Amino acid sequence: MEKYVIKGGKPLQGEVDISGAKNAAVAIIPAALMVDGVCRIENMPQISDTDMLLTILTHLGAEVKLINGSTIEIDSRNVKFSDAPFDLMRKIRASYYLIGAMLSRFGSAKTTMPGGCNFGVRPIDQHIKGMNALGADIEVRNGFVYAEAPDGRLHGAKIYLDKVSVGATMNIILAATLATGRTIIENAAREPHIVDLANFLNSMGADIRGAGTDTIKVNGVDKLHGGSYSIIPDQIEAGTYMVAAAATGGEVLIKNVIPKHLDCISAKLRETGTIVLEYEDSVLVKGNGNLRKANIKTLPYPGFPTDMQPQMGALLCMANGTSVITEGIYDNRFKYVNELRKMGADVQVDGRIAIFEGRAKLTGAPVMACDLRAGAAIVIAGLCASGTTEIEDIHFIERGYENFVGKLRALGADISIVDFPDEPDIHEKVIAIG
Ligand code: EPU
Repeated sequence: MEKYVIKGGKPLQGEVDISGAKNAAVAIIPAALMVDGVCRIENMPQISDTDMLLTILTHLGAEVKLINGSTIEIDSRNVKFSDAPFDLMRKIRASYYLIGAMLSRFGSAKTTMPGGCNFGVRPIDQHIKGMNALGADIEVRNGFVYAEAPDGRLHGAKIYLDKVSVGATMNIILAATLATGRTIIENAAREPHIVDLANFLNSMGADIRGAGTDTIKVNGVDKLHGGSYSIIPDQIEAGTYMVAAAATGGEVLIKNVIPKHLDCISAKLRETGTIVLEYEDSVLVKGNGNLRKANIKTLPYPGFPTDMQPQMGALLCMANGTSVITEGIYDNRFKYVNELRKMGADVQVDGRIAIFEGRAKLTGAPVMACDLRAGAAIVIAGLCASGTTEIEDIHFIERGYENFVGKLRALGADISIVDFPDEPDIHEKVIAIG
């Protein structure tokens, strides 16, 4: 097994290039299943979530070619309907996109219920409601999802989402793309990755309008053709380096970003006294080592993203004054606070509200990455702490950050990946003792 070992206290300095957006890529890969031709996709992030999805596509019969570092080609022309590999699907949340993509391509799908980070109950009722409205019969049984379009093809419909859901919006777009007639999604999510999925599909011949607003119209087409597409930069990866620069009191130029997508993060960092300068496709973040408190409420885009909440939590531990974070999306996204407490943070959590007392002098400790963004938050805390922080369960972090350690080291961080022996399981321990 591997862990990160960080010797904290060094301000980050230099430049970092941001990779393609995870949450766009994990929808675009399943979308490639629907394309009758070769898709060339640039700026594909090399992270374990995309690796797993590409492996799933290969199992289904797609040909996946690595052209160079971040450019791949996917040819799904010979894909035949079959069960997707369940052990892989269970591990990632985004496997739910295979429901929409396979229904669109084959008129049926069998997948597992999705995995992913555990922030409390994460239902997919809005996905199912959307697929049902398009004419699919869906049954969830024994952890599997069985979906079937009775006459082999879905039909456009008007769908009002009860809850703003990124996944349901993207899944319904996928399902509606090759349906007959027009689909209208009301109360749609507006995240940049939704626009990116629509742009990808449109560049392959789909007819999707309004992505980025709360009403999306999909005019179904008979076929998608091959083409070339470049994924947008990752808003959350960029935000994570912005917060890391601010928290360590460093100065970092964050390159290959769309500054507009970072507006809410830049605004919040400015409230803490951090300087954020925006250029055409980069932002410069200058921390001053004297952070001010800030209150945050996470909301769907363009509100402050829940996926940046833990990283900001790590920063606010050290700010002057008391900060309040209200989590507006998930029931249970403060598990990382327990790890921060081991490092000396003073934080109280009551349901969806956390109160950060600030001014903590963090000290290194053995801690865990409880999920992807929690892991990023603990890395930021470790970079600021005095002494050594050892972080286990780093596979969560590697789900979503390309070359995290390499990029941080290039910014001057003292962080390395260290092997350590697997814990023997309890049975082996008993044998060893007895
Ligand atoms: N929800 C429902 N029913 C549904 C779908 C969602 O009640 O059918 C609820 C969820 O439980 C949650 C809220 O609606 O309380 C929003 O969930 P959403 O569907 O928007 O989230 P998601 O699609 O499951 C994606 C990202 C998450 C990110 C959220 C919110 C992917 C694979 N995951 O999840 O990313 O937090 O949108 O922006 O795109 C991450 O990258 O760290 C991550 C967790």
